[in-house]
Amino acid sequence: MCSKRNSILSLLVILHLVLESTSKLEFTNVKCTSLDENFTKFEYCYLKSINRTYKYLSLRANLLNTPVTKIKLNFSLFKRFSGYRPFLYNMTVDSCRFLANTKSYPIPAFFYGLFSNFSNMNHTCPYDHDLIIDKLSIASVNHQLTKVLPFPEGDYLVETTWLAYDIIRASIKFYATLS
Ligand SMILES: *[C@@H]1O[C@H](CO)[C@@H](O)[C@H](O)[C@H]1NC(C)=O
Ligand SMILES: *[C@@H]1O[C@H](CO)[C@@H](O)[C@H](O)[C@H]1NC(C)=O
Ligand SMILES: *[C@@H]1O[C@H](CO)[C@@H](O)[C@H](O)[C@H]1NC(C)=O
Ligand SMILES: *[C@@H]1O[C@H](CO)[C@@H](O)[C@H](O)[C@H]1NC(C)=O
Ligand SMILES: *[C@@H]1O[C@H](CO)[C@@H](O)[C@H](O)[C@H]1NC(C)=O
Ligand SMILES: *[C@@H]1O[C@H](CO)[C@@H](O)[C@H](O)[C@H]1NC(C)=O
Repeated sequence: MCSKRNSILSLLVILHLVLESTSKLEFTNVKCTSLDENFTKFEYCYLKSINRTYKYLSLRANLLNTPVTKIKLNFSLFKRFSGYRPFLYNMTVDSCRFLANTKSYPIPAFFYGLFSNFSNMNHTCPYDHDLIIDKLSIASVNHQLTKVLPFPEGDYLVETTWLAYDIIRASIKFYATLS
C-alpha cells in the first residue's frame, strides 16, 4: 500500500520534471474588443514574431473617461476539447483592491505576475492614462510558468472581461498552446 503510494508519488515527480523541462507555451492569438466605445478604444492589440524564438504581445487601450477609480475584472481559463470549455479558474477580482494588496490574492497575483513587468498597469488606482502592455515576450511568460506545477498540454484561452463602475467595457482574449 505504502510503497504503491510512494511509486505513484515518484512517478508524479518524474512527470513533473519531464513536463517542466519540455513543455512550451506559445501565444497563438490575442483579441481585444471594446464593448463601450465611449469608454475605451484599443489603439492596437497584436502578436508579433521577430524570429523563431522571439515573439511578443503588445496592446494599448485608450481610456476616454479618466480618472478611473473602480475597476473589476473577471478572468476565466478555458481549455479546448471540442470547443473551449471552462477549466479550473473563473474569478472576479476587484482590481483596485487587488492592486492595493496583491499578496492577499494568490491566484490573481500569479496571472498578474505574468505580465506586470511589461505593463504600466502595475500601480494602485486610479488609472488616468492609456493602459499598455508592451512587448510581453513568451519567454518571460514561460519563465514564470516554470515556477508552478505544469498544466496539461493543449490549447488554452484566457478570457478577461473588464468592468468599470460595474459596467462591462472591454474584453481581452489571450490564446495560447502548451505543447
Ligand atoms: C456613446 O455616446 C453617444 C453620444 O453621447 C451615445 O449616443 C451612445 O449611445 C453612447 N454609446 C454607449 C455604448 O453608451
Ligand atoms: C531574435 O530576435 C531577438 C531580438 O531582435 C534577438 O536578440 C535574438 O538574438 C534573435 N534570435 C535569433 C535566433 O535570431
Ligand atoms: C464576466 O462577467 C460579466 C458580467 O458579470 C459576464 O457577462 C461574463 O459572462 C463574465 N465572463 C466570464 C468569462 O465568465
Ligand atoms: C463564471 O462564474 C460566473 C458566476 O458564477 C458565471 O456567471 C459564468 O458563467 C462563469 N463563466 C464560466 C466561463 O464558467
Ligand atoms: C519584475 O522585475 C523586477 C526587477 O527587474 C524583478 O525583481 C521581479 O522579479 C520581476 N517580477 C516578475 C513577476 O517577473
Ligand atoms: C512596474 O513595472 C516597471 C517596469 O518593469 C517597474 O520598473 C516598476 O518598479 C513596477 N512597479 C511596481 C509598483 O511594481
